[in-house]
Amino acid sequence: MKFTRRTILATAILAACAASPLTALAAKPLVIGFSQVGAESEWRTANTVSIKDAARKAGVTLKFADAQQKQENQVKAIRSFIAQKVDVIAFSPVVESGWDTVLREAKAAKIPVILTDRAVSVTDDTLYVTFIGSDFVEEGRRAGKWLLEHAKNAAPDGTVNIVELQGTVGSAPAIDRKKGFEEVIAANPKFKIIRSQTGDFTRAKGKEVMEAFLKAEGKKINVLYAHNDDMAIGAIQAIEEAGLKPGVDITIVSIDGVKGAFEAMMAGKLNVTVECSPLLGPQLMQIAADVVAAKPVPKRITTQEGVFPAEIAAREFPNRKY
Ligand code: AHR
Repeated sequence: MKFTRRTILATAILAACAASPLTALAAKPLVIGFSQVGAESEWRTANTVSIKDAARKAGVTLKFADAQQKQENQVKAIRSFIAQKVDVIAFSPVVESGWDTVLREAKAAKIPVILTDRAVSVTDDTLYVTFIGSDFVEEGRRAGKWLLEHAKNAAPDGTVNIVELQGTVGSAPAIDRKKGFEEVIAANPKFKIIRSQTGDFTRAKGKEVMEAFLKAEGKKINVLYAHNDDMAIGAIQAIEEAGLKPGVDITIVSIDGVKGAFEAMMAGKLNVTVECSPLLGPQLMQIAADVVAAKPVPKRITTQEGVFPAEIAAREFPNRKY
């Protein structure tokens, strides 16, 4: 066979198509409708960047909708993706329940649904193909385990008084991180949650609620457990304004592992962050391509994560990607 420039090019394209389903779809770009929770935290911003970048690199047409932390906006976005006949719908649900109807509509339209980051509670789990994200219960357990081993502050009677800043009410991470943490600290009756309220995963609300906790409990507070770094960072400001030293007078445990948390740890104001990776974009693009190509995919794809205490923050900081 004579190798002309055209046959070499055609062979190269065929080889690339065989190697990657994303490339194979290059002729007709995959269209994904993605409904994001909002822009409530540093974590969420990194998650949005990861999804948009990965879509661009994979040649996927991404229809992106920001729900501004409202479930009704996500339901509207999903209905609009169905009307536009996208290939795949992906979303990170603001809250866990209330999805059955709209997901049934997607199923009736034969559009596969992929959950990213947060799970849903539905009666029929065939309403979504797969979930990609963290094990939030395990994150709560890791926060609790670190605290049981490292609690330095205690009241004179030996009790460790904890205040808890919960995430968005009804969201999977708020429910699961509370559950995992409580499960672990139950092993030692001296560890007590004396106040618990939502800070909606934002810095502003974290600060506001911590101010209220300090007003009500003052120096009785030994530990702050925040369901995300942003609320912990807001609370740090409140603690400083109350004339106390965050990370010293009050031990602070939070979740996410964003750069802001590493900076707070390096400044001695935060004691530990439990990692929750927002870098889900590349996996989402790959799984969406597999689903469209009718390849079998696991029902749950769990992200691997670590725990970063303040002592290793400076060493780890240069490796952080979000
Ligand atoms: O669902 C993940 C959580 O949502 C992150 O911990 C938090 O920062 C975000 O807003």
